[in-house]
Amino acid sequence: MTVLLLLTRSPHKNSVDLVTETDQKVEAMISKTLHAKYPTFKFLGEETYKPGMKLTDAPTFVVDPVDGTTNFVHHYPYVSVSIGFAVNRQPVVGVVYNPFTRQMYTGIKGEGSYLIEYKSGGVENDNEPRRQRLPLKQPPEPLKELSEALVAVEWGSDRSGSNWETKVKTWDNLGRAKEDGGAMIHSARSFGSAALNLCAVASGAMDLYWEGGCWAWDVCAGWVILNEAGGVMVDGNPGKWEVPIPVDHRKYLALRAVAEGEEENVSGQRKIVEEFWSFIVGTMQYEH
Ligand code: IPD
Repeated sequence: MTVLLLLTRSPHKNSVDLVTETDQKVEAMISKTLHAKYPTFKFLGEETYKPGMKLTDAPTFVVDPVDGTTNFVHHYPYVSVSIGFAVNRQPVVGVVYNPFTRQMYTGIKGEGSYLIEYKSGGVENDNEPRRQRLPLKQPPEPLKELSEALVAVEWGSDRSGSNWETKVKTWDNLGRAKEDGGAMIHSARSFGSAALNLCAVASGAMDLYWEGGCWAWDVCAGWVILNEAGGVMVDGNPGKWEVPIPVDHRKYLALRAVAEGEEENVSGQRKIVEEFWSFIVGTMQYEH
């Protein structure tokens, strides 16, 4: 019940970029706990971020205390606590927990990623949670072309200018019939939590996730979970497959593992990424 008592909300930067007391209290609790245990590591959190702060190469906890704040305010149960850890601006550890569904996703670079499902007692009172390695679909299904894909897209909170144009025109392109020049993907979903979107792609339930405008704390944890499940994160603008992006890039395209065998997986993923890039209209520009 505590969460329901802490819904007092205010906008961050505009009327759709919300923050609640819960966001602030959860971040304070996480920050205090991590600092007590790891005093030399830096901390970057959504609620204590100030314009101009930069993620550095130093080991840094990158935390979104409530990812999906709009869902939280509307009581839509797609909400997560997202705790990531980055070194050299690359994500290396991630935990994403949805307290409503009691599902926790974890990933450590080089050690795989997992979905852990707790029973009604939740994290603190469940000695036998169900633990499954990601991706859940083993072996991963092939994805021959974009038209077969289920894609997560988000409006985000910036709703003006050329970034908005790019999003809207690209969504139009993704959905439109092939005979009218579109990709005619299976469908699009917009669930409202970047961290959980990445976990859905990691698990194999979603095929891709595309967004511009979200921040390092929205993606850091989910990114490790995705990579460890055989997925990839690349530039959300048409870019170069070979060039890695930093965790604070703010323009992202995530794709699940697509086939057996490393070589086939990589070339199959590259083909889908390049096909997706070809449907993007314009270039998203976000400061980081
Ligand atoms: C938001 C969510 C949303 C995404 C936005 C993020 P918040 O995070 O992840 O899915 O579209 O870009 O800002 O504000 O709920 O922590």
